[in-house]
Amino acid sequence: MAHPAAPDQERASNRPVRIGVTGIGIMGSNHARVLAELPGAELVAVADPDQAQAQRVANFLGCKAVGDHHELLALGLDAVVVAAPTHLHHPIALDVIAAGCSVLVEKPVASTTEEGREIVAAAREKGVTLMIGHVERFNPAVRAIKDAIRDENLLSIAITRVGPFPPRMSNVGVVIDLAVHDIDLIRWFTGSDILEVQPQTRAAIAEREDIALLQFRTATGALAHINTNWLTPFKARTVHVATSKKYVIGDLLTRQVTEHFDYRPDGSYSTRHLPVAYAEPLRAELENFLSSVRTGRPPEVTGEEGVASLEIAMACLPGAAASARASSTKRRAVG
Ligand SMILES: NC(=O)c1ccc[n+]([C@@H]2O[C@H](COP(=O)([O-])OP(=O)(O)OC[C@H]3O[C@@H](n4cnc5c(N)ncnc54)[C@H](O)[C@@H]3O)[C@@H](O)[C@H]2O)c1
Repeated sequence: MAHPAAPDQERASNRPVRIGVTGIGIMGSNHARVLAELPGAELVAVADPDQAQAQRVANFLGCKAVGDHHELLALGLDAVVVAAPTHLHHPIALDVIAAGCSVLVEKPVASTTEEGREIVAAAREKGVTLMIGHVERFNPAVRAIKDAIRDENLLSIAITRVGPFPPRMSNVGVVIDLAVHDIDLIRWFTGSDILEVQPQTRAAIAEREDIALLQFRTATGALAHINTNWLTPFKARTVHVATSKKYVIGDLLTRQVTEHFDYRPDGSYSTRHLPVAYAEPLRAELENFLSSVRTGRPPEVTGEEGVASLEIAMACLPGAAASARASSTKRRAVG
């Protein structure tokens, strides 16, 4: 399928989207597992230069194993998930797009914003769907927080995302690897751009930054803070949001979301536990991608948004200006 189908074509053709995954490591294996179960997808093959790994996953899921994305594309696909290491996103995504296939690129979209923009431009020119794998947007707890703060006057957001060193170190530090998730959430929660960044980072043990405290101001005036590191023995992911009327606390791992509101002069207030749906975030993300491929409607996380979040993350890296106005270009996170 060279171009996303029009909605009426979607109704006419109910055939599953022929899809492959390239890069069958931790994340790629998860994509392949979910795709193999999704009714709207036909997982045709997985690709990885580590043939033993590709074959193992292929045997388990009942699809073909190939060595790289060129062999994958030769199988005649509608779409490809790119879950290879980040520095390979750019060349692989450009080849996939040139072949007329839609593409879901894992986060971060690329190693540099220039590469990210090239991917966005290529997809637009070819008329294929491009989605970025900011999977946290599909976490039901994140959705519950987003619902709780909709139409509120948002004052501040504080996100903690800490844990141990990843089992395999990539060639990016904790800002590009982890904080980019939360930069995307801050843009999405506020529905606005980040205008100011005040980063503090440090390479305490690793070669690249492994600890970061990042502060932001958005175009709407909301303040935001990210505490992230690879120096904590356990994983924690929490979101605190202050609005002029309520304080919302979400735990993205246990998926508990609570709001505190109705503050009274005697110091008392009300607390409510919010309902959080059950859903696997990756499944919801892939369903959204497949729907975009079929209908041609923009996916929930566009290439432009992936580049915008990467741009902010890059502005937080050591060497970037200590307090940078990230960009005067007006962008808006889809809300
Ligand atoms: N959305 C998320 O929450 C999330 C979580 C983890 C990783 N990621 C992203 O997914 C990507 C992969 O991360 P990972 O943790 O799965 O890494 P990983 O090291 O576990 O897997 C990468 C795989 O890519 C393979 N590979 C290497 N060169 C390749 C090539 N030319 N073509 C195809 N495959 C190739 C490797 O052999 C390996 O199997 C990164 O971009 C990372 O940022 C996203």
